[in-house]
Amino acid sequence: MTQDEAKKAAAEAALKYVVPGEVLGVGTGSTVNYFIDALARIRDDIPGAVSSSNASTERLKKIGIPVLDLNKTGTLSIYVDGADEANKHLQLIKGGGAALTREKIVAGASRKFICIADESKLVGVLGKFPLPIEVIPMAQSYVGREIVKLGGQPYLRDGVITDNGNVIIDVRGLEILDPVKLEAQINQIAGVVTVGLFAHRPADVLLLGTPVGVKEIKA
Ligand code: A5P
Repeated sequence: MTQDEAKKAAAEAALKYVVPGEVLGVGTGSTVNYFIDALARIRDDIPGAVSSSNASTERLKKIGIPVLDLNKTGTLSIYVDGADEANKHLQLIKGGGAALTREKIVAGASRKFICIADESKLVGVLGKFPLPIEVIPMAQSYVGREIVKLGGQPYLRDGVITDNGNVIIDVRGLEILDPVKLEAQINQIAGVVTVGLFAHRPADVLLLGTPVGVKEIKA
């Protein structure tokens, strides 16, 4: 089984969590693209979706699913999104696709967060994948210096401007033993819009594509 086949299997498995007649939240990335493709088959059951990125918005519109404003929908039944890393507590690193802020907003506004990924994303300790942070442009040097104090090595993601007009700093060299604490510490640095650690609000279900089928881990 290729990595893409594993992503697709996890994405298809998330369909069973879709509540017919209810608006859902849709994340961003290659695994979510498979989920959107699968949604096309049950399009008539879906009144609309809230999207976490311009890229997913385009894809949803192409299959005829209306994209709605989160301010008009209230709490969503489910949010389906991928991850760059996940641990067994369903705490995640996200933001490889630079959509972390909207992803965190939509995840927070949903009753259930279903994370879909191939099994390579499951790790013992978060931090091998560089931790993305969305930062207000004028604060990038200051935030970088504060990150060094926390033990990380900050790198500006070249040529990337987020959908919100900000920059991304990727932090290497962190062994994240206490994700909830680190998320709070980074959130307190002035100029940080969002850190891509989803620990305060982890996923509720992790669907992992493996060569022997989709493994489901629940919080
Ligand atoms: C987007 O900003 C990310 O959080 C994605 O969810 C994450 O990078 C996973 O992407 P893939 O599904 O492409 O691996």
